[in-house]
Amino acid sequence: MTTAAAESAITFVDGDNGILEYRGYPIEQLTKRSTYLEVAYLLLHGELPTTDQADKWVQEITYHTFIHENMRKRFLEGFHYDAHPMGILVSAIAALSTYYPDAKNIFDPEVRHKQIIRLIAKMPTLAAAAHRYSVGMPFVYPDNSHDFPSNFLSMVLKTPESRFEANPALVRAMDALFILHADHEQNCSTAALRVVASSQVDPYSACAAACAALYGPLHGGANEAVIRMLTEIGTLENVPGFIRSVKEGHGRLQGFGHRVYKNYDPRAKIIRDIAYEVFEVTGKNPLLDIALGLEEVALADEYFVSRKLYPNVDFYSGLIYQAMGFPVEMFPVLFAVPRVAGWVAHWVEMLEHNTKIARPRQLYVGHRRRDYVPMSSR
Ligand code: SDX
Repeated sequence: MTTAAAESAITFVDGDNGILEYRGYPIEQLTKRSTYLEVAYLLLHGELPTTDQADKWVQEITYHTFIHENMRKRFLEGFHYDAHPMGILVSAIAALSTYYPDAKNIFDPEVRHKQIIRLIAKMPTLAAAAHRYSVGMPFVYPDNSHDFPSNFLSMVLKTPESRFEANPALVRAMDALFILHADHEQNCSTAALRVVASSQVDPYSACAAACAALYGPLHGGANEAVIRMLTEIGTLENVPGFIRSVKEGHGRLQGFGHRVYKNYDPRAKIIRDIAYEVFEVTGKNPLLDIALGLEEVALADEYFVSRKLYPNVDFYSGLIYQAMGFPVEMFPVLFAVPRVAGWVAHWVEMLEHNTKIARPRQLYVGHRRRDYVPMSSR
């Protein structure tokens, strides 16, 4: 809780004052003025790209969105019909390491660059494929004439029409949500990435480990847990009773609290504003009123105030995803798609710092030397 596990120059978080900056740029400015692909470049290279750099970067990503046909036909279709898309995604990322054995040459910058492009480019395709498979819809190939967020929405939502055109407000909201989820310094999944990558394994295997950590309900799985919680509460009238049960120790207020933020998570504020823009298009998510009611009661209650529990990035994001038509199981997947930019940025930073293999110390509290006891004497 207090020992720094790494030195990093990628993301700065001031938990007491609710500040989040990527390479020094405030998240509020990036969400309003940048794009996810530009932010991914910034996280990786430390500077915003010039026009030429951005054009080359976007072109490389755009032309690496396809996955091997075997991956689609044999691997993905090997899952049970109702497999959770996050379980599919974790497995699919690991499986990518078997298609690109050259990725093991992790100290070759050119090889690293190629895998980074593949990971950022293929995450939306794998995520969409996992979703389509889990709802029994046919796989949709990437459409390189779309920009990054539009292509993702097309692969998720397209039906028989020849070309899918998402509402521009939803495309903008998707891109902003990707920016907000791209990195967050040494969170559980990024820390997992650094530990696994420190063994010098390929980046696909390390990102699969990170994605597995993100799956947990205390981390990226919280956005799914929030919607299940709001659905269970059901009406505004049930909010006081639910708050009471949490205070009595029965379960947690999902989407609240954070190891670092002891103030409002700046991302939660931005996401709440995005929610209103999305609801203009999709119609208001009825669970929003319950979420707002929960927030109002919790922020006035000593139990939450004394523990500095505020809404975090996961409290409102699920309301948007649900209004956009994503099933609840897809919510942690939507977190993982952009977080890969942070994972690969930390991977490169760690390799360039020549990090040793992770091997934490322990305080041994068990028995010391004692002699074996035969079964008859136990
Ligand atoms: C993310 O680290 C990151 O940066 C993560 C993330 C990222 O971008 O990568 O920001 C994304 O994971 C956001 C967090 C999403 N998780 C949730 O919303 C799940 C609900 N929240 C928690 O379970 C909890 O707040 C954590 C896991 C987020 C933080 O846990 P900590 O820091 O270990 O805090 P704790 O469990 O020690 O809690 C301190 C106290 C305890 O009470 P006491 O034992 O002191 O009486 O606060 C209570 C907890 O019981 N508490 C809660 C609570 N969270 C903490 N009580 C009710 N509801 C909650 N949500």
